[in-house]
Amino acid sequence: MTALRALDSANLNGGQKLAVKYFTVALALLGVQITFGLLAAVQFVMPDFLFGVVDFSIKRMVHINAMIVWMVFGFIGSVYWMLEEEAGAPTVGLKLGNIIFYVFTAAVLVVVAVYLLVQTGPGEIETQWFITEGREYTEAPRWADIGIVVCLLTFFYNVAATFSKGKVTGIGGVLLLDLVALAGIYTLGMFYTTNLTMDQYWWWWVIHMWVEATWEVMVGCMMAYGLMKVLGTSRKIVTTWLYLEVFMMFGSGILGIGHHYFWIGTPQYWLSIGGFFSALEPLPLVAMVVHAVYDAGVHKSRNNNHPAMGWLIAHAFGNFFGAGVFGFIHTLPQINLYTHGTQWSASHGHFAFYGAYATIIIAFFYIALQKWRGDVWMSGNLFGGWKWKWSMVLLNVGMLGMIMGMLVAGFAQSQIERAIGGATWTAFFAAQEHPWFVQGMHWRLAFGTMFAAGYALLVWDLLTIGKRETRPVQSHDDAALEAK
Ligand code: HEM
Ligand code: HEM
Ligand SMILES: [Fe+2]
Repeated sequence: MTALRALDSANLNGGQKLAVKYFTVALALLGVQITFGLLAAVQFVMPDFLFGVVDFSIKRMVHINAMIVWMVFGFIGSVYWMLEEEAGAPTVGLKLGNIIFYVFTAAVLVVVAVYLLVQTGPGEIETQWFITEGREYTEAPRWADIGIVVCLLTFFYNVAATFSKGKVTGIGGVLLLDLVALAGIYTLGMFYTTNLTMDQYWWWWVIHMWVEATWEVMVGCMMAYGLMKVLGTSRKIVTTWLYLEVFMMFGSGILGIGHHYFWIGTPQYWLSIGGFFSALEPLPLVAMVVHAVYDAGVHKSRNNNHPAMGWLIAHAFGNFFGAGVFGFIHTLPQINLYTHGTQWSASHGHFAFYGAYATIIIAFFYIALQKWRGDVWMSGNLFGGWKWKWSMVLLNVGMLGMIMGMLVAGFAQSQIERAIGGATWTAFFAAQEHPWFVQGMHWRLAFGTMFAAGYALLVWDLLTIGKRETRPVQSHDDAALEAK
């Protein structure tokens, strides 16, 4: 059967054509992340797996670097996607934006190739410039750091110039300020000192301020736009919520950085500041869930893009539970003393990054595909609709299973290694060999495999959804009438 609704770029505006390129690379890099996550997980079960071929530290580094890059690509794509509609003007400097996309993608490939080709060797100044900086999440070598800043500045130019040519909406204004903060904070991670405490102090400004301040504001903007598109929520409502969320997010998240300063040699007052402010961080995340549920209620949950709406809801809950609840449970110094740096942290790390960020980017993939295929129907009785549902089930259940496996392993570590054993070397091994820890690692591998199957189905669905559909997108008015 021939395709009825072909992917046709004529359906997209200039910014959106560039957006789908970013989305494509993002989806591919998610595959790289999962591959290396699985390899790392196998090694927890079979320690000599790929011995001498790929070191554990390299697998882990590629795993989390691929994550940061695919998410950044997903965010950039989402901003280009919204840009022309929000600003009411064509994207300024699109040609430059396109060149930068290819440069950025090529640079990522070179960085990863070097990681895999040069796994060991002396740590010299040149290493830092050309191979790796060696700091978790921001391992990219210095040349790439500078390149990333140049790419982000060009991106910022596209966005700022387009908004200044058109109009600046509430979402647009928040987005612009957020991009300045995001790029500014990244540069803080670029200087190097031999004092480990100072080094870590500034490094956390990049990591914590990104995920618990600027990235959260970014997804706040995406959620506002997504709810308008998918549910037909009014701009006034989403903008009011957005301002409130941003205010609460910055109010708690900035000083909340103190929860990373408990044990790195910084002054003791960080114990109180970090404990107090980071404990407030779940509040804006509650506001975000209330916002999504409220809007869905007002519109009686009728929407014109079921997969996107499903993923937006997954985001609201994932952000709340993964970042908010799972963050809160280990954020007080009295508890963090026992849980710090165990699989408990990894459990929260997976839940938060997946729940808050992976989900909403996937929602944008679906929003984009709907338009790319010529505003196709994506409501009930969707042709081949089992695929998006099953991939969503496999991905969500797979991730929850991994999270629980790691949490149990983390409990064992906190109890046996820290509370009972007093954090000695012997106690470390006692915890690593404990059946609860070992079983947790097996569960992670098993559910990780399920997650990978969900990814394969997601890719298949994204390639085919709407292809054989003849109905046009359901209008919000029809959807509302049907609900009455
Ligand atoms: C979407 C937002 C968030 C993301 C993506 C995220 C992600 C992460 C990750 C990956 C780590 C491990 C860092 C490492 O490798 O050392 C971490 C650590 C931590 N997070 Fe979050 N987090 C988020 C929000 C929160 C919130 C809201 C709280 C508190 C309410 C929180 C509390 C903590 C604490 C206390 C640690 C330190 C764990 C340790 O001592 O080992 N996080 N987070
Ligand atoms: C097949 C799926 C996956 C498997 C098997 C897997 C496995 C792993 C393993 C073994 C580690 C190293 C843990 C350690 O050093 O103790 C890790 C780290 C990490 N993974 Fe995954 N992962 C998967 C998918 C994901 C996804 C989808 C995300 C986010 C969207 C993610 C985010 C992270 C983060 C943030 C860390 C660092 C955690 C920390 O520093 O505490 N992973 N993963
Ligand atoms: Fe943090």
